[in-house]
Amino acid sequence: MLIKNKVILVTGACGRIGTSIVEEFINNGNFLILMDQNEERLCKLSKNYSKENHLIYQGDIVNKNDLDNCIQKSFKSFGRIDAAVHAAYPKSIGWGTRFEDLKIENLSEDLKNHLGGAIIMSQRIIKFFLEQGYGQLIHISSIQGVSSPKFEHYENTNMISPIEYSAIKSGIISLVKYLAKYYKKKNIRVNCVSPGGILNNQPKNFLRKYNEECNSKGMLEGKDLNGLLAFLISDSSKLITGQNIIIDDGWSL
Ligand SMILES: NC(=O)c1ccc[n+]([C@@H]2O[C@H](COP(=O)([O-])OP(=O)(O)OC[C@H]3O[C@@H](n4cnc5c(N)ncnc54)[C@H](O)[C@@H]3O)[C@@H](O)[C@H]2O)c1
Repeated sequence: MLIKNKVILVTGACGRIGTSIVEEFINNGNFLILMDQNEERLCKLSKNYSKENHLIYQGDIVNKNDLDNCIQKSFKSFGRIDAAVHAAYPKSIGWGTRFEDLKIENLSEDLKNHLGGAIIMSQRIIKFFLEQGYGQLIHISSIQGVSSPKFEHYENTNMISPIEYSAIKSGIISLVKYLAKYYKKKNIRVNCVSPGGILNNQPKNFLRKYNEECNSKGMLEGKDLNGLLAFLISDSSKLITGQNIIIDDGWSL
């Protein structure tokens, strides 16, 4: 791995992508702060690692106080935070509703928590990075923020790709460009990774159509993002900021 001895805050640490980041980055000699709202899963995940190389923080990424407390606690424990990867995925109870049936209440909650949460999380961590004098922030968008969904893949399944997901993920790419430029000359870089779908027991007919669009593997696993994330955190990417990097095995071509 390109990086070692880095202190990295991961939000959504108990998710599919979060757990892969935590595992590979800790196992390669980095120090991880695991933030998630799910206390039970945090405690379970924490048991896999020694106390010296990680810290867990149960909190809500939409809550300014939770974010500030997490950042302060991390700073107390490790003396710095080199990078933050925002991989939390807030979803309302109505998440996954068809466009025709969307309700404004659920829509508002998802826009507030997912897009608003990404903005507030950026505000809190960049405030800390400015005090510290440097830092790397990485957001996770999606292929759905770059391309319109391939609706034909969803035929004969009960899956949908929500319209608000596309809007939120495009919004995240926008806020990354905004922030990278807003903090120009402050020794802070902000970048975005847009992964293809992650394997999660999707129906076979969906997977077959999806994989046909790809170059080699098709649907990804969480761990497939780690090389790119390490590159973006490392000095090898020091001239890359405000970018959205697609990692989708060619799906969006
Ligand atoms: N899974 C995919 O196919 C896929 C593909 C492309 C991009 N992404 C993006 O990657 C990111 C991570 O996705 P994932 O599949 O790992 O998600 P996941 O649902 O597996 O995990 C998300 C984690 O975020 C936590 N979380 C949710 N709301 C929170 C909040 N308010 N405060 C703190 N923690 C909260 C959950 O407890 C969970 O542990 C998301 O931004 C998602 O949109 C996912």
